[in-house]
Amino acid sequence: MKRYLTFALTKGRLAERTMDLFSSVGMECREMQDKGSRKLIFVNEEEKLRFFLAKGPDVPTYVEYGAADIGVSGKDIIMEENRSIYEVLDLGFGRCRMCIAGPKEAGELLQHQEMIRVATKYPRIAKDYFHNRKHQTVDIIKLNGSIELAPIVGLADVIVDIVETGSTLKENGLTVLEDICPLSARMVVNQVSMRMESQRIRKIIERLREALKAD
Ligand code: PRP
Repeated sequence: MKRYLTFALTKGRLAERTMDLFSSVGMECREMQDKGSRKLIFVNEEEKLRFFLAKGPDVPTYVEYGAADIGVSGKDIIMEENRSIYEVLDLGFGRCRMCIAGPKEAGELLQHQEMIRVATKYPRIAKDYFHNRKHQTVDIIKLNGSIELAPIVGLADVIVDIVETGSTLKENGLTVLEDICPLSARMVVNQVSMRMESQRIRKIIERLREALKAD
C-alpha cells in the first residue's frame, strides 16, 4: 500500500500557481478548488497525495521535521530559514530579486565599508551578504513588513528587501543600490523522504521538470 505523500504549500498566490502546475502533471486536488473553504488539509485519494497550506516561513520547518515530505516556498524564505532540507527544483514562477535599496545618496555608504543601519525582514540574508560578500560591518534591524518606510523615516540608511516590479521603491523615492540574488519559487524535500520515497519523489520531480520545459 502506498503511503500518503504530504506537501506543504505557501498559502496564497504561490499555492495557486503550484496547484496549476501540479494539475498539469496529473497531481490535481479538487477539494482545494473551493475558494470559500477555510480547510487547511486537502487529499487526492487516488494518487495518495495530501496537501496543506502554511505561512511561507513555516514551510521549510514542516519539511525539515518530516511533517511534510515536500514543500514549495520562495527562495528568499529558504535562504532565510536555512533548514536542513534538499532544494530540488526551480519552479520558475514568483520571480523577483533580493536587493539593497535606499535613497540614491545612500549608494555612497555602500562603497567605503561604513557602519550603517540596514532594515530588513531577512536578517540572515542581510547579515550574510554584508559580512561575507561586502566585508562591511552593519547594524541590522529586523522589521516585519513595509520595509520601505525605514529609510524614509530615518530608522535605517538602506533596506534589504524583495523587488518585483520596482513600483514600491519608485513610489517612495527609493532605488535599487545593489542586487543580491534572483529569487523564485522552489521545491524542497525532506532528507529522509528523499531516501525512503526516492522513486516516487524523483518521478514527480521529473514530471514537473518536463512540464516546465514545455511551458
Ligand atoms: C513586498 C516587498 C516590497 C514589495 C515589492 O512586500 O517587501 O515591499 O513587495 O514589490 P514591487 O517591487 O512589485 O513593488 P509585500 O507586498 O509582500 O508586503 P510587506 O511590505 O508586508 O513585506
